Amino acid sequence: MDAKTGTDGKTGTLKIGNKNYELPQYEGTVGPDVVDISRLYDEAGLFTYDPGFTSTASCESKITFIDGDEGILLYRGYPIEQLAEHGDFLETCYLLLYGELPTVAEKLDFDRTVTRHTMIHEQMARFYQGFRRDAHPMAVMVGCVGALSSFYHDSADIGDPRQRMIASFRLIAKMPTIAAMAYKYTIGQPFMYPKNDLAYASNFLRMCFGVPCEDYEVNPVLARAMDRIFILHADHEQNASTSTVRLAGSSAANPFACIAAGIACLWGPAHGGANEAALKMLVEIGKPERIPEYVRRAKDKNDPFRLMGFGHRVYRNYDPRAKIMQTTCHKVLAETGAKDDLFEVALELERIALHDEYFIEKQLYPNIDFYSGITLKAMGFPTTMFTVLFALARTVGWIAQWKEMIEDPSQKIGRPRQLYTGATYRDYIPIDRRM
Ligand code: SDX
Repeated sequence: MDAKTGTDGKTGTLKIGNKNYELPQYEGTVGPDVVDISRLYDEAGLFTYDPGFTSTASCESKITFIDGDEGILLYRGYPIEQLAEHGDFLETCYLLLYGELPTVAEKLDFDRTVTRHTMIHEQMARFYQGFRRDAHPMAVMVGCVGALSSFYHDSADIGDPRQRMIASFRLIAKMPTIAAMAYKYTIGQPFMYPKNDLAYASNFLRMCFGVPCEDYEVNPVLARAMDRIFILHADHEQNASTSTVRLAGSSAANPFACIAAGIACLWGPAHGGANEAALKMLVEIGKPERIPEYVRRAKDKNDPFRLMGFGHRVYRNYDPRAKIMQTTCHKVLAETGAKDDLFEVALELERIALHDEYFIEKQLYPNIDFYSGITLKAMGFPTTMFTVLFALARTVGWIAQWKEMIEDPSQKIGRPRQLYTGATYRDYIPIDRRM
């Protein structure tokens, strides 16, 4: 990677005991500097310790930048607000993958290529039969996306740039089809094939809500909202699932297996599963007058309850995506006429939380998952599909980050160390001598 500076001799000094260690210090184009500790163990016989990586940069990247204090999110330098307002999801995909906004010709070619990869191998449809009808769609996604590697051996050689690009197109193009099939399977309806004359988000909505026995008219307001939701979820720096994809990719695993690992990690309610959990929380609260009880529980150290959809490891200010999500939510509720009391509960919960000293002191603001659940519910999706939609959108971010890692000449297998506090050396005791 060539962006690192610090090779001009900028160093940080680490004093341990009575010894000073000079460590290279690099600065990025924006954001905090980093101190390179890769030689610390060799020089000082010490590991650094940072569970949860709260102060650790795992890589150098040019893709997404977040300023958590200012509530800024940039994809390749472009603010999320402008991309969500003026662009579409496939334009964002092109930007994340190639680093620049596409020209008219490049966009047409990219859209056409993605469109022509939306069908999945016909035999894949049989995978779904192996799941119970009430299987969580995220379990289906992990299984089916991982299984893609059994169909596409011609794009699994990660050392071949052409195969990496083909795999990238296949994953971006097929995720909506696989996701829609996961939904159809749970409701016992026949799978819908993609239609090449529909744009990405419209195609997905038709595959989810259309049926073979009649034409399906895509609602343009909902299609625009869906496309915008995909843009908001496309990438987010080195979050847990992206770090999972990078770590899986560092062993040279094939891209389909790496993305399946990312889907598995995203499923957790502390991460991508929070949109499903946030809606369940709003349903449990039920009405505004019950909010104070839940806010009290969220503050209670002895109560594991947390306000789902609030807080973020990086954003110590408002999540810029949440603002756009709230506006999108309004539009969808207006369009669908879904008089959703949950939206009133959400607005009141947000108002209370933003004025509560606990949340202000802990810097807990609504994150993207807070409003996405209400929006998706109004669009007709069951809560079990919320994280599936997150995974669908985040696939391009995972792929862009995976590609960047593979193409980084300094890349090596990720292999963290540990602070060991277990038993020291001891001999085996035969079972008849154990008390
Ligand atoms: C996503 O990383 C990303 O970029 C993720 C994501 C992406 O696009 O990839 O943005 C998507 O995952 C958004 C986050 C979705 N998760 C939730 O909404 C679940 C609820 N939020 C929390 O679980 C929590 O806020 C996290 C996991 C999001 C962040 O946790 P941190 O940074 O590790 O913070 P923490 O758990 O150390 O909490 C700091 C303090 C704690 O109190 P103290 O121990 O200091 O007294 O804040 C409290 C926590 O108890 N706290 C909350 C809270 N979140 C944190 N208290 C009540 N409700 C909450 N939601």
